[in-house]
Amino acid sequence: MASILILNGPNLNLLGTRQPEVYGTTTLADIEAMCRAHAAARGLEIGFLQSNHEGALIDAIHAARGCHDGIILNAGAYTHSSVALMDAISAVALPAIELHLSNIHARESFRHVSHIARVAVGVICGFGAQGYLLAIDAMRGHLGGAG
Ligand code: DQA
Repeated sequence: MASILILNGPNLNLLGTRQPEVYGTTTLADIEAMCRAHAAARGLEIGFLQSNHEGALIDAIHAARGCHDGIILNAGAYTHSSVALMDAISAVALPAIELHLSNIHARESFRHVSHIARVAVGVICGFGAQGYLLAIDAMRGHLGGAG
């Protein structure tokens, strides 16, 4: 059974109350439950983690080797700043999908820069919590299951 790590970066623990006009009112716990149900219905295993710390996210990416077949990464603001996260994705050589709730290209110009996109299979943004489910389906297709 294929396994996907869904990894969430800084401030995403505050979803539900954080700038709801930008990120919606769905909490991260709600998103995890949606992802677990969506993955289970497709015969996939998932891991679901959040950290506000860059090093912890890097450790989680390293630990994914041998445990997971792909990574869905919403790196939050680290998307725009972290060469170390980009290097971690390259280092483990697992397929990664960059994910954002908001459409980062319709926002401030500093959000148009992504270090993760350089090493990602693809990018999904702008679909809110639904984007997590789209990313699961995209990863499933990439890994050779039905797309
Ligand atoms: C985000 C977009 C980032 O620019 C921002 O820093 C976040 C959330 C999103 O999911 O839309 O923290 O990754």
